[in-house]
Amino acid sequence: LTQERYPVQRLPFAVVSDEDLAAFERILPGRVITSSEELEAVNVDWLRTVRGCSRVLLKPQTTEEVSQILRYCHDRKLAVTPQGGNTSMVGGSVPVFDEIILSTSLLNQVVSFHGVSGVLVCQAGCILEDLSQYVEDRDFVMPLDLGAKGSCHIGGNVATNAGGLRVLRYGSLHGTVLGLEVVLADGSILDCLSSLRKDNTGYDLKQLFIGSEGTLGVITAVSILCPPKPKAVNVAFLGCPGFTEVLRTFSSCKGKLGEVLSAFEFMDAGCMRLVQQHLHLSCPVRESPFYVLVETSGSNMEHDEAKLAAFLEDALDSGLVTDGTVATDQRKMKTLWALRERITEALSRDGYVYKYDISLPVEQLYDLVVDLRARLGPSAKTVVGYGHLGDGNLHLNVTSEAFSPGLLGALEPYVYEWTAGQRGSVSAEHGLGFRKRDVLGYSKPPSAIQLMRGLKALLDPKGILNPYKMLPSQA
Ligand code: FAD
Ligand code: MLT
Ligand code: ZN
Repeated sequence: LTQERYPVQRLPFAVVSDEDLAAFERILPGRVITSSEELEAVNVDWLRTVRGCSRVLLKPQTTEEVSQILRYCHDRKLAVTPQGGNTSMVGGSVPVFDEIILSTSLLNQVVSFHGVSGVLVCQAGCILEDLSQYVEDRDFVMPLDLGAKGSCHIGGNVATNAGGLRVLRYGSLHGTVLGLEVVLADGSILDCLSSLRKDNTGYDLKQLFIGSEGTLGVITAVSILCPPKPKAVNVAFLGCPGFTEVLRTFSSCKGKLGEVLSAFEFMDAGCMRLVQQHLHLSCPVRESPFYVLVETSGSNMEHDEAKLAAFLEDALDSGLVTDGTVATDQRKMKTLWALRERITEALSRDGYVYKYDISLPVEQLYDLVVDLRARLGPSAKTVVGYGHLGDGNLHLNVTSEAFSPGLLGALEPYVYEWTAGQRGSVSAEHGLGFRKRDVLGYSKPPSAIQLMRGLKALLDPKGILNPYKMLPSQA
């Protein structure tokens, strides 16, 4: 699957021997997995487009064990792919060849939580949804949320600098992560697990690892700032007659809902058709060309409801919105959120998915979708746009019955050139991983890429950490 589709050559790393397996077994008794059944799942990515052939999966439970493993691999020049929940959208979390898979699944303990500051310290393999439950039981929320919450690990979220559904309200992980513990390629432990809001002592090293996609170190623990749980949450699901109205609805929301606006997501009619057809979800409003999900989070239900009602009345009267429904109870809110969150799953059932995750000036956010529909014509099964409109982040997805080199040729480099022409980003939130590493140059100048290579060489001189990922292949 991988080598056929993407030209790539194995680098001269050592091959795992029986002595290596015995050494791992001494470090992790009973947690060195070599059974082909278990290896099958961890060798293939979520989208099923990249497949490695690793012979061994390691499951450390402590930072010290991660350190011992990496020290050993570094000495032997064995390549390692760190893996969290394996929900990467860019083939970042699976080996390309026979790299050792280092899973964080057993690094899954909460270390501490402070009920005044809201600072949570936990191991990197905690599942995001479990952490959400943990802090919600204590009247806080996680500052991030995403459709993959049931499987993704907080370490994987930090390693990809995952965005998701709450960036509009709480900002990115570059702001909410207060500290990290990282094991470097040679096994040394970097303890930057601070819980302080303010700390200007030297370079802020943790920032280097946020979004480094497993190429600079293995994150073993995270300190993260959790906001108090909002007392009042409302969700409105609205139908809009055109993209201009979607934009005007966004402006209106910012003006009228201001401090309580916590999410502004959009999806087009094609997305609605996909979740109806493949997941049997039903559309809660009259059929429309576009749909918008607005969430408010505040501290006073009456106040928020009144604001939302006034906004909706205006939006309906002025024709920005043609139909809408509002939810305040948990069950209905979940149902409305599912329409947006489960588009990814519906797409994967539609066929082979060509996935683009682009940052653009919000005014131009949908132009490329319209352009591509005309460009691709019937050669594509579906061309859809959805995403985090409030963050200027478009998810442009195209499907076909099966992988088609012709369709890929019509999409790339066209999509990347178009994006670069708008000074957009070719990866807003999913990272580059294996599949997008060669398009980094569309969004970063050669001098920046050179400095990235220098940092990689400094922190991982033998290149053992997640090779073939993030940085472009060298000609
Ligand atoms: P993995 O997929 O296992 O790994 C991702 C990368 O991080 C890999 O390069 C891996 O080597 C590295 N890595 C993992 N753990 C560590 C660690 N402890 N130390 C160092 N490196 C590590 N992304 C968004 O940004 N926003 C979304 O809204 C969003 N929604 C999604 C919805 C669905 C249904 C799916 C399947 C994916 C979605 N994603 C989204 C993509 C994905 O980036 C996130 O799901 C998540 O951040 C990945 O976490 P993970 O634990 O699965 O990491
Ligand atoms: C989302 O916002 O749904 C995710 O980033 C996943 C995707 O792009 O499909
Ligand atoms: Zn997204």
